[in-house]
Amino acid sequence: MREKFEELVDGFVNNRVGVAPSFIPQELIAALQKDLSEIHFNGLMSEAGVGNIASRVYAPEIRKDKIYWLDNKSKNINQQQFLDIVAQFVSYLNSTCYTGLNDYEFHFAVYEPGSFYKKHKDQFRNDTGRKFSFITYLNDNWTDGDGGQLLIYNDDKLVSVLPESGTSVFFKSDESAHEVALAHRLRMSVTGWLKRV
Ligand code: OGA
Ligand code: MN
Repeated sequence: MREKFEELVDGFVNNRVGVAPSFIPQELIAALQKDLSEIHFNGLMSEAGVGNIASRVYAPEIRKDKIYWLDNKSKNINQQQFLDIVAQFVSYLNSTCYTGLNDYEFHFAVYEPGSFYKKHKDQFRNDTGRKFSFITYLNDNWTDGDGGQLLIYNDDKLVSVLPESGTSVFFKSDESAHEVALAHRLRMSVTGWLKRV
């Protein structure tokens, strides 16, 4: 995994955003796709809100995705395998970049056709625990015509990422404003934050 970790960190250092295609192995992506599809089909996803626990509100004019939080101690082998890679990435960052990360939180996300997430940053005003955002996509053969691009704004530079299966994206939660463009097709991801709490 070390080379993939370096790819993300190099991108981050050079462009403020790391993008790594095939960051997560294809078999694990396929298994996570299946798990998320089942959870969605069984009606277990919740409407996402904005703000943190103290001030969370449903705001469909800002975001229309549905989410399902992963349990960091999950017995689900695919989720465990995914979070194990996250834990290795956290160790890598702590040992090479002195990031002092000590926690993480992840959720599955589904954008049904017609959904989006307007421009925002991921760190809360009243809780600075989220240090890095880390997103992995679960959509085969995504094209520009499907919409749903992740658009990341840093100064005058715009980075556009297609939410293609296995691609992971990494950026600083308090720094990079970003949005999810209107999706015309079901868009699935595992989204989370590397934290120092
Ligand atoms: C988020 C977010 C981006 C994406 O959930 O905060 O910005 O590409 N997601 O799914
Ligand atoms: Mn975000």
